[in-house]
Amino acid sequence: MALVTEQDFGTPARTSATLVTLEIDGRTVTVPAGTSVMRAAAEIETAIPKLCATDSLEPFGSCRLCVVEIEGRRGTPASCTTPVEPGMKVRTQTPKLAKLRRNVMELYISDHPLDCLTCAANGDCELQDMAGVVGLREVRYGYDGANHLVGEKDTSNPYFTFDPTKCIVCSRCVRACEEVQGTFALTIDGRGFASFVSAGQDDGFKESECVSCGACVQACPTATLMENSIIEAGQPEHSVVTTCAYCGVGCAFKAEMQGTEVVRMTPYKDGKANHGHSCVKGRFAWGYATHRDRITKPMIRKKITDPWREVSWEEAISYAASELKRIQATYGRDAIGGITSSRCTNEETFLVQKMIRAAFGNNNVDTCARVCHSPTGYGLKTTFGTSAGTQDFDSVDESDVIVVIGANPTDAHPVFASRMKRRLRQGARLIVVDPRRIDLVKSPHIKAEHHLQLKPGTNVAIVNAMAHVIVTEGLAADDYIRERCDLEEFSRWAAFIADPRHSPEAVEEVTGVPAAEVRAAARLYATGGNAAIYYGLGVTEHSQGSTMVMGMANLAMLTGNIGRRGVGVNPLRGQNNVQGSCDMGSFPHEFSGYRHVSDDATRQIFEEMWGVPLSAEPGLRIPNMLDAAIEGTYKGIYIQGEDIAQSDPDVKHVTAGLAAMECVIVQDLFLNETASYAHVFLPGSSFLEKDGTFTNAERRISRVRRAIPPKAGYADWEVTMMLSEALGYPMRYSHPSEIMDEIARTTPTFAGVSYQRLDELGSVQWPCNDAAPEGTPIMHIDRFVRGKGRFMITEFVPTEERTGPRFPLVLTTGRILSQYNVGAQTRRTDNIAWHDEDVLEIHPSDAENRGIRDGDWVALASRSGETSLRAKISDRMQPGVVYTTFHHAETGANVVTTDYSDWATNCPEYKVTAVQVRRVNHLSDWQIAYRELREKTIRIEQPQEAAE
Ligand code: SF4
Ligand code: SF4
Ligand code: SF4
Ligand code: FES
Repeated sequence: MALVTEQDFGTPARTSATLVTLEIDGRTVTVPAGTSVMRAAAEIETAIPKLCATDSLEPFGSCRLCVVEIEGRRGTPASCTTPVEPGMKVRTQTPKLAKLRRNVMELYISDHPLDCLTCAANGDCELQDMAGVVGLREVRYGYDGANHLVGEKDTSNPYFTFDPTKCIVCSRCVRACEEVQGTFALTIDGRGFASFVSAGQDDGFKESECVSCGACVQACPTATLMENSIIEAGQPEHSVVTTCAYCGVGCAFKAEMQGTEVVRMTPYKDGKANHGHSCVKGRFAWGYATHRDRITKPMIRKKITDPWREVSWEEAISYAASELKRIQATYGRDAIGGITSSRCTNEETFLVQKMIRAAFGNNNVDTCARVCHSPTGYGLKTTFGTSAGTQDFDSVDESDVIVVIGANPTDAHPVFASRMKRRLRQGARLIVVDPRRIDLVKSPHIKAEHHLQLKPGTNVAIVNAMAHVIVTEGLAADDYIRERCDLEEFSRWAAFIADPRHSPEAVEEVTGVPAAEVRAAARLYATGGNAAIYYGLGVTEHSQGSTMVMGMANLAMLTGNIGRRGVGVNPLRGQNNVQGSCDMGSFPHEFSGYRHVSDDATRQIFEEMWGVPLSAEPGLRIPNMLDAAIEGTYKGIYIQGEDIAQSDPDVKHVTAGLAAMECVIVQDLFLNETASYAHVFLPGSSFLEKDGTFTNAERRISRVRRAIPPKAGYADWEVTMMLSEALGYPMRYSHPSEIMDEIARTTPTFAGVSYQRLDELGSVQWPCNDAAPEGTPIMHIDRFVRGKGRFMITEFVPTEERTGPRFPLVLTTGRILSQYNVGAQTRRTDNIAWHDEDVLEIHPSDAENRGIRDGDWVALASRSGETSLRAKISDRMQPGVVYTTFHHAETGANVVTTDYSDWATNCPEYKVTAVQVRRVNHLSDWQIAYRELREKTIRIEQPQEAAE
């Protein structure tokens, strides 16, 4: 295997329809108008020397290394900043140019340490390369003059080092931080010779606004900004293109390797979701894959208070299978089930649901999407006909109005947030609907035109009020509705929404948002050009999650904002493969492709393919499995790559359900919280250890490629096959590509997907079939998938979770940039430097009323339970609302959340919990019990000889 290298064209591609033909070194080239001479030359493999230019950044023209001669023009213009013109005749190599370039390089090198052989960038340094390219052989000025060869390194960032002695002040880092990332953390301070790069107010990277995305490190042409992993391990010798296993953006990366060790993850320029950008998680937080906490041997135990006993794979699988069979023989076929993982690949998820349906013989399969985006599936399928977002990420470049509802993209979907921020800096207008003042509301060069800071739990009232304004003020897209939507449904809905009880004035008190703001936001959405909605779990994790998804779909149809670029209704998916796990048939009522289990024709397809009769009865959802366990009718579960004891609401209820089961089989990288209740532990494999595919929030299916061998000997899909075989239902696949072939044969929206197609195209967005062999970036272009768009009545029904004298505040939960979900991965990386505990954000007035100071230890209590954590006083919150994250098991945020859930899908209402907060100086009873249980349940029996 070799290093995967990508050509740097020097300046970004242009997309003009006007083409320009010119001549470069006697060769003819035709490029879009606006292309630089440098890029036009690169297109015909003529490399012009450069230092300050790179194709991820707009040209800057500072180094003067890229000079060329143009017939009929005086002087030697910089090719990076000179656009092509018809008939231009360019010369890139002449004695005059060679001399000029050598002079430039001489100046750079005279002020640069001469330590190439011992430099970490040796072999991967553009300065070194360019010195060779221009033929620099000597430096006439000597090295004794004024220079920058003494300077202190900034090692404050855990992942990269800044060594100012190597800086050539090309400004690529500063521009990357501005143009690509949109954080504006870096500046060039001083002037001329005294210029230097500074992070923040020269207070070091760690203390600056830097979010460690790595764009500056990537852009730096020298060893000035360098990954610590490369400084320590040296340059990689081969690489494998794969997909990030963190969030639903699905960034493509090169896993850069030395032998079987990853030494760097570099964002892949050809990645269609990220175009070469990354965030701190995918770029740097991959060390968990080799963390010492990884469990690499299967383990079993009779009781959860017994120590774990390491056993062979054969023994573990045979024990697990015999327990599942015993339970079914004793309690019936439906007494067992399983949970698929949104972190595992499509192929692995497909196999788990197949094993449950075909080998367990029931439909008791569910997935963690139950607790995040199940309302998206329900709401979008009902209104549009497809359980997925409508656009590709690139579409945002054509949005004029962007509405962000209940999402915090700069923390949870950072690479897409950078893209969105770039569009906003170009002039798109922003509406934020969120109880919290998220970063997007005001950040460098961005300001939301409207922040509808609603009270948690009132989304539907706001979306209805916006629709009311559009209908009653005559701003609806009548022609679009007439042509594209079901008119009967529309008339019914229009009469409903026009009722004065939905007006912004009527709901002002309940939402807390001034009516004038809602009116202005509605008018902007309806009349501001292409308007796109992006939303997150702040929409779905409510008792009316599905209603709100339909409310947004109504709004988009009402204004004609569906079916072209720049518009749409777009869920920002949390986990890497949450879209895929839903697509693959992880829900108890649906086969892959969202086809109901009671549909005879669909069942027949699978019965023929799998050779067994299948149940037509929907199985149990996760909350029902836990209820049934407590009732004594559900006794065994196989959980692959999920930690329901931490991630699901009302921890006491979840753990009571797990504790009531006779066989809990957990497959994971680490002994997670759920494993405390497990009888069988099967080691999982990280994304670096297997082949497969993930599907991101844009419906984009991307390859995951094995970079290192599985630490425990098997990839997760192989373990599922072994378990299925031990249960008496053998499955035979020699590679995940064969599983994808089966998915394609049984699932119409995936009919055209194969590993060969993915390798050819890089990635593909479903539906991918005969009608769309290269996939479908934008949905519902000519017609909705369901035919006519369906307006749904969305009555606002306040949640039953109410504040009162005992619990007067509302708790809402969310994520933070450096941590991911339950934190099992990111807590085992240096990301802990930014967030080593969950804190409770509380408004200054609520804190003052309770005598709470910043950093105080406080008790957070609800009807469900109580936990303790530190307080952070923050005016991002509105009075009456507190906020925390759930990345640390010991904080137990979900001890407090309730079991209220979405009426249609059971998605838990994480976002609204009535709570009280008071100062304390001790852990909660739950935390003390948690520590004791953890100590008892994670012991691993030492082999006799080792113990002696
Ligand atoms: S790592 Fe990213 S955010 Fe930090 S300075 Fe570099 S480009 Fe800016
Ligand atoms: S740190 Fe690197 S990218 Fe930034 S100015 Fe210096 S050499 Fe250029
Ligand atoms: S934005 Fe998401 S997919 Fe991309 S690098 Fe970050 S965590 Fe990974
Ligand atoms: S590469 Fe053109 S001026 Fe630096």
